[in-house]
Amino acid sequence: MNIILLGPPGAGKGTQAEKLIKELDAVQISTGDIFRTNIKNNTPLGAKAKEYMNKGQLVPDELTIDLVWDALDKVEDGKSILLDGFPRNITQAEALDEGMQKRDNKIDKVININVPEDVIIERISGRRVNVSTGKVYHIKFNPPKIEGIDDETGEKLIQREDDTEAAVKERLDVYNKHTSVLIDYYNKKGILVTIDGAKTPEEVFDQIKKSLEK
Ligand code: AP5
Ligand code: ZN
Repeated sequence: MNIILLGPPGAGKGTQAEKLIKELDAVQISTGDIFRTNIKNNTPLGAKAKEYMNKGQLVPDELTIDLVWDALDKVEDGKSILLDGFPRNITQAEALDEGMQKRDNKIDKVININVPEDVIIERISGRRVNVSTGKVYHIKFNPPKIEGIDDETGEKLIQREDDTEAAVKERLDVYNKHTSVLIDYYNKKGILVTIDGAKTPEEVFDQIKKSLEK
């Protein structure tokens, strides 16, 4: 089963993706995580992506779509695919349809995680991440055992560079202008489910699991 996690910044896409890949034996493709790894490793792609990300803008489609093809081509046959943070506009969604079709594959479900703006701000301001693994914590809602340290690897947790007030405002604007139209796009295809993301991570996960049974 191939799934897209759709939702505004801070909705909990990464948090739910971590739970879902275990449940479904799926491969997670998170464009944001791929860009952050490239930035950390000082690659040319990372240098280009960073300019856009730190301002809260979308990285150009030419760069993003190619990267998703590369990731899709590496997925072993029979594994489910979980897309987090892609597609983010109509051009990307159409490219994905075409790319999946070429690979004799398709998207089965789009999970739209609905969260109000005040919750988003609180979540993003308390987020801490391990850039090496993409593992996400929250100082209040999901704190690590030792402050600032990843429970799993012992590495340092940091605040994302695009979690500043100005970048978050821009990310929300970009979501409203370019990404939220995908709700309608996938609803018309009959594969959209909307769930309430303003619950605990476990409650959100339960809703997602139920929606996949239907
Ligand atoms: P990306 O990394 O995808 O960021 P985003 O969409 O803004 O989403 P976030 O990662 O901020 O939030 P999330 O929904 O994953 O929430 P999380 O689980 O972390 O993209 C970053 C940038 O990369 C973009 O702005 C763009 O520049 C570029 N980019 C990426 N993809 C692109 C594309 N396709 N095209 C072009 N450019 C692209 O949770 C947030 C916090 O809340 C955490 O602290 C978590 O612990 C906590 N939390 C989660 N769920 C709950 C809950 N239920 N209750 C309480 N706390 C919770
Ligand atoms: Zn994320």
